[in-house]
Amino acid sequence: MPPPPSPSGRAAVLCGLGSWLPPRVVTNEELSRRLDTSDAWIRTRTGISRRHIAEPGQATSDLAVEAGRRALRSAGTDDVDAVVVATTTPDRSCPATAPLVASRLGLRGAAAFDISAVCTGFVYGLASAASLITAGVATRVLLIGADTYSTIVDPHDRTNAIIFGDGAGAVVLRGGRADEPGAVGHFDLGSDGTGEELIMVAAGGSRQRSTPGEADPQDRYFAMRGKEVFRHAVTRMTASAQATLTMADCKVEDIDRLVPHQANLRILRSVAEDLGLPPERLVTNVESVGNTGAASIPLALADAATRHTVQPGERMLLTAFGGGLTWGSCLLTWPALSRIDTPHNTGGTQAS
Ligand code: COA
Repeated sequence: MPPPPSPSGRAAVLCGLGSWLPPRVVTNEELSRRLDTSDAWIRTRTGISRRHIAEPGQATSDLAVEAGRRALRSAGTDDVDAVVVATTTPDRSCPATAPLVASRLGLRGAAAFDISAVCTGFVYGLASAASLITAGVATRVLLIGADTYSTIVDPHDRTNAIIFGDGAGAVVLRGGRADEPGAVGHFDLGSDGTGEELIMVAAGGSRQRSTPGEADPQDRYFAMRGKEVFRHAVTRMTASAQATLTMADCKVEDIDRLVPHQANLRILRSVAEDLGLPPERLVTNVESVGNTGAASIPLALADAATRHTVQPGERMLLTAFGGGLTWGSCLLTWPALSRIDTPHNTGGTQAS
């Protein structure tokens, strides 16, 4: 199952992992006090019981820097050639968030850019970061998935406010061999822009400009057609995961862990079932963090690694779906990482 040979003969190898969650936890009970909803409804429909929410004034880069710092420490390096930030909630629409994150991490001079693929951002980011390495453009890349959905979700919108949480997760990739644990690939990436309206923030871009007084305030908030998104999420992630297995000449039985974008527990279980994968191979932490957008896969990886529910040498299939519509999947053999710092245990060290 190693990645396909690259023209350079190099592969991109995951060698560091870090994550960070803002300390404030918002439970379903707290949401139920201000919204017409209930803990039972949220748990049954989504599998979520709590999420972390950024403080007012805390921006995506603040979360990204913390996760990035932990990933660099896990990789045992403070030197990368490129910083990639996957996010739907950049600090500003211009410039990108990555250069600021790079300089705050002491990586001034590194190439730095953002990836905008909504909840598929981390998988698109992995493909981009890996390509920089296999093309010989970079030897080490820091990839961060970070989102503060609380800044774009209407707090009075009970459908979306219950789903999303804030957080950041990061990995370091280095050049290595395709047969090493940690080598990433094959990749399947795709999109279908005819589904643009299913997930959208209507105002603030060049289509509906943010001239004061013009936009409906509601248009500045995240909007989603939940039922249709649900169906697409299941079918697209399943199809993309299957395409990746076919590409790598693998069967679903060869996969030890499925790590899907943590959208909703019902979606994740349906994907596992449609793939024919036993539910115990599903990696999920959506119950405690909600849907954290581009951060969700690295947060799930960090959670599983620190709880030792993934072991070095296990074969993983990552799959994601998001607005755009976009989707993507990737194979990875879990590496032995010397340390992973958990979000609230800054001094603590856990070997995976
Ligand atoms: N609490 C209580 N009731 C709620 C509610 C909430 N938080 N949100 C919606 N409802 C109500 C609706 O108003 C509706 O009421 P009605 O029947 O009187 O009209 C009812 O619950 C059913 O709504 P519906 O939208 O059909 O529910 P659902 O089972 O589809 O669940 C989602 C809604 C959003 C949880 C679900 O569609 C979903 O998870 N979609 C995918 C979201 C996602 O993962 N997006 C990210 C992908 S990257």
